[in-house]
Amino acid sequence: MSDFDRVIDRKGTYAYKWEKYRNLDVIPLWVADMDFASPPQVVSALKERIDHAVFGYTKDPEELNTTVIEYCKNSFDWAIEKQWIIWLPGLVTGINIACRSVGERNDSVITMPPIYPPFLEAPQLSKRDQVSIPLKHTQGQWIMDFDSLATVPVSKNAHFLFCNPQNPTGRVYTKEELLALSEICMDRNIIVCSDEIHCDLVLDTDKKHIPLASLNETIADRTITLMAPSKTYNIAGLGCSFAIIPNRKLRIAFQRAMKGIVPHVNLLGYTAALAAYRDSQEWLADLLSYLRINRDITEERISSLLGLSITHVEATYLAWIDARSLQKENPTRFFEEAGVGFSDGADFGAPGYVRLNFGCPRPLLEKALSRIEKAVS
Ligand SMILES: Cc1ncc(COP(=O)(O)O)c(C=O)c1O
Repeated sequence: MSDFDRVIDRKGTYAYKWEKYRNLDVIPLWVADMDFASPPQVVSALKERIDHAVFGYTKDPEELNTTVIEYCKNSFDWAIEKQWIIWLPGLVTGINIACRSVGERNDSVITMPPIYPPFLEAPQLSKRDQVSIPLKHTQGQWIMDFDSLATVPVSKNAHFLFCNPQNPTGRVYTKEELLALSEICMDRNIIVCSDEIHCDLVLDTDKKHIPLASLNETIADRTITLMAPSKTYNIAGLGCSFAIIPNRKLRIAFQRAMKGIVPHVNLLGYTAALAAYRDSQEWLADLLSYLRINRDITEERISSLLGLSITHVEATYLAWIDARSLQKENPTRFFEEAGVGFSDGADFGAPGYVRLNFGCPRPLLEKALSRIEKAVS
């Protein structure tokens, strides 16, 4: 038995994922955290830090910055500099700060639904105008609508909130797609906030993550990249993320928007991030092997069901399922009544869809899939 098969009881730990269905027989496959223990290297680094017993304000550790620089080089062949890194207590914070720091009131912020819900909320929270260019679903794949991106009316200081690997569709955009995107953004003077939180979770072995800003200096100069160890190493509750902003003017505007509002990063977040990026690569390889099988099982069992269709998940532990043919008014509620809790596609700008999180021990996933099969058969 793999350690990932071990079912850890999260009930009573105030886990967001499990609290939603407290005292109900619903298997929660919704919010994007995994039901696995974090890497042992992370757990022991945290224990050691806790044993020190003094938890005062803490600076970003020098070794963590060096480790992130090495990680970008080794994982993505992307050479970044220390002063480009800005530490954040959460990635959604980064999205909202980016929105406030680019352009002004009523400037355009482009989003491409279906998309992780905070992308749809951030423009309005920043008093910007949202411009929606839905992804297109063709030949079983979700792709960007470049024609619309090239022609849609936008303000002078437009901003694009990009997500790659994409949540919820699990797409990993190719180099060709990224180049096409960057050409349009350069032509139209669009600044990009690129959320790459799922970048370590590429499941297809013939695909790789390419940070948008690593393509060339011109696109790097107009890109705010957001990354975090939180999804990969299952440490979302420790709140530690970072922005990489090569352009000094953009970086200063971002830091100014943070001032007095964004708190320090939790010191345990720093500790976990360092142990994750520096010491947990073997664990990550095992995790990816485990998730690949979970993904294959999910795709096989869901695609054989009448009324549901699933697109191939290239990255992430999230599967995007079209449930419109079931003709249920609210598919999420329908599956909850059958004992499985999905994320509701409506929150991602796509009613009729549901998102399934397969980042859990296989016995739990298989039990949930059996419930889904029973409900739709
Ligand atoms: C694309 C994306 N961005 C950001 C986040 C959340 O980041 P944080 O919890 O650090 O705010 C998630 C979590 O699911 C996500 O999928």
